[in-house]
Amino acid sequence: MLVLGIETSCDETAAAIVRDGKEILSNVIYSQVKTHTPYGGVVPELASREHLLKIRPIVDQAFSDAGMTLDDIDGIAATSGPGLIGSLLVGLTYAKALAFSKHKPLAAVNHIEGHIYSVSFEHPEVEFPALGLVVSGGHTNLFWIESASGDFSNLHYKLVGRTRDDAAGEAYDKVAKLLGLPYPGGPIIDRLAKTGNREAIPFSIAKISDRSLDFSFSGVKTAVLRMVKENEKLKEDPLRLALLAGFQEAVVNMLWSTTARAVTLLSPRSIMLSGGVAANSRLREVFAERTAEAGLKLYYPKPILTTDNAAMIAAAGTAKLMRGEIAAIDVNADPNLRLAVAERDFPAKRWK
Ligand code: KG4
Ligand code: ZN
Repeated sequence: MLVLGIETSCDETAAAIVRDGKEILSNVIYSQVKTHTPYGGVVPELASREHLLKIRPIVDQAFSDAGMTLDDIDGIAATSGPGLIGSLLVGLTYAKALAFSKHKPLAAVNHIEGHIYSVSFEHPEVEFPALGLVVSGGHTNLFWIESASGDFSNLHYKLVGRTRDDAAGEAYDKVAKLLGLPYPGGPIIDRLAKTGNREAIPFSIAKISDRSLDFSFSGVKTAVLRMVKENEKLKEDPLRLALLAGFQEAVVNMLWSTTARAVTLLSPRSIMLSGGVAANSRLREVFAERTAEAGLKLYYPKPILTTDNAAMIAAAGTAKLMRGEIAAIDVNADPNLRLAVAERDFPAKRWK
């Protein structure tokens, strides 16, 4: 099955052609980062306008890179939420128009589910049930993922933990802005923090409760703000590097400590990391060390599939189309679309 994937939920206009949810024939990503950098973050109006300009050439490029035309594909998958409403509408409406005019089935894909499927290309062997940690600019969610068929073709999700305030990527971006670093802050902080002493400036991490699997990042962000206000020297190297390394350590520790608690409570067979922040080198390092110690399998995608892309949307969409979950032509974009409702009692129930 050949599927065209379209992703426009935030500030990337992306299109990809994927065969059988496995083989990426083309993967075109146009990043709007230059447009938004002067504002220190994504400006929704500018994002949707730029998606409008780029959607057609990017989809055309995905077809030409794959050596195909619209007539060759079997279905279309587009992100329908969550995300910026104006941005989502551009990709979803374009996909609907293509599907309608060419009589192709359409799958409406949840962006978060797309991130989870980004792992499936290189690691179709993931063993379920798995814990799926999705860490991006807009989301920090911990899912309990079961498979009806043992593989990626039919997954079921329970949301067992989420951020109570900022998303992990949002904390990176805000701290970067505070220190005068350009948007997006994650990749720059990742690079700069490598040379900083991560123990020089310790951060205490918020503990929500022993039973909760939720996260919180606004405390670390506010701590950076307070420290910088009290000591201007923290804006200059080498103190700045130590501050960034300490901040990153606190974020990574928060992510690992909650995941570790979920491992104890739920006994998954593997852990999947995805979303833009999963590209972080320290996060990968810490998770790799700790999961190896615990004898757990850890899976994450290569960096190009970690941040927003349409190949992951095509993969999740292929599974939907194969199951016959075809979207109606009047399907709407939903900026708050959920993959699963929060399961407050779920870990406690399994604890016994
Ligand atoms: O998944 P993504 O491309 O978009 C959303 O769905 O939000 O994630 C973007 C986020 C941004 O906040 C960016 O700063 C962060 O991922 N990010 C990183 C790294 N690369 C991207 N954060 C930490 N370390 C990185 N290497
Ligand atoms: Zn994303």
